Amino acid sequence: MSRQRILPLLAVAVLAASFSVNFVHADDDSEQGSRAKYSGENRGKPLQPKQSNSLFQQECSSCHLAYAPGLLPAASWRKIMAGLDKHFGSDASLDARDNKEITDFLVKHSSNRWSAATAPLRITESAWFKRKHDAHEIDPAVWNNPQVKSPANCAACHPQAERGNFNDDDIKIPK
Ligand code: HEC
Ligand code: HEC
Repeated sequence: MSRQRILPLLAVAVLAASFSVNFVHADDDSEQGSRAKYSGENRGKPLQPKQSNSLFQQECSSCHLAYAPGLLPAASWRKIMAGLDKHFGSDASLDARDNKEITDFLVKHSSNRWSAATAPLRITESAWFKRKHDAHEIDPAVWNNPQVKSPANCAACHPQAERGNFNDDDIKIPK
C-alpha cells in the first residue's frame, strides 16, 4: 500500500478508536487470545454440554435459572456445592448422593479456559463477567431497573440464558 493511502486510513482508525468503545473493547475469543484474557478468569467453551443433567436442572432452577456449568471453574463449583446449607442466605442443601451427582456434572463441564488460581462463588464476580457488563457495554442505570433486580438474573437480558445462549444477537435489555 502506498504512503498516501495509509495515512488517511490511520486517521480513520484513530477516529474509530476514540468514538467506539466496542473498538477499544474488541474481543478476541479465539483459543490463543483467550488464555491470558480476563487475567485468566475466562468462561469456558461450550458453556453448556449438549446433554444436561436432569437432577441439576430440577434442583438448581427453583430459585434462579440453572446456570450453565461453563460459566465457572471446577474449584468454584466444588466450593458452591460444599456450602449449599449456607447458599447466599438460603438453604439449598441436598442429600449426599444428589450432591455428588450434581457436583460431578458441574465439575466435568466447568470452564475449560479458566487459568487463574481464583475460584469465585459468584459468576457475577468473575473478571470476564465484569468486563462484559461494565459501563462501556451497559448503561449503569439498567441495573436499577426493577425487571433486572440482580446481575445474577441473567434471563432479564439474555432470554435464552437457560439454554446457555448469551449471544450478542439474542440480548434484550428491558426498557
Ligand atoms: C433455595 C433457593 C436456591 C436454590 C435451590 C439454589 N440457589 Fe443458587 N442462589 C440462590 C440465591 C438467593 C442466590 C443469590 C442471587 C442473587 O444474588 O441475586 C444464588 C446464587 C447462586 C450463584 C451465584 C450467582 C451470581 O451472582 O453469579 C450460583 C453460581 C448458584 N446460585 C448456583 C446454584 C446451584 C449449582 C444450585 C443447585 C445445587 C443452586 N444454586 C440452588 C438461591 C438458591
Ligand atoms: C442488565 C442486562 C444483563 C444481565 C442481567 C446479564 N447480562 Fe450478560 N450481557 C449483557 C449485554 C448487554 C452483553 C453484551 C456486552 C457486549 O457487547 O460485549 C452481555 C454479554 C454477555 C456475555 C458475552 C456474550 C458474547 O457473545 O460475547 C455472556 C457470556 C453473558 N453476558 C453472560 C451473562 C450471565 C451468565 C448473566 C447472569 C449471571 C448475565 N450475562 C447477566 C446484558 C446482561
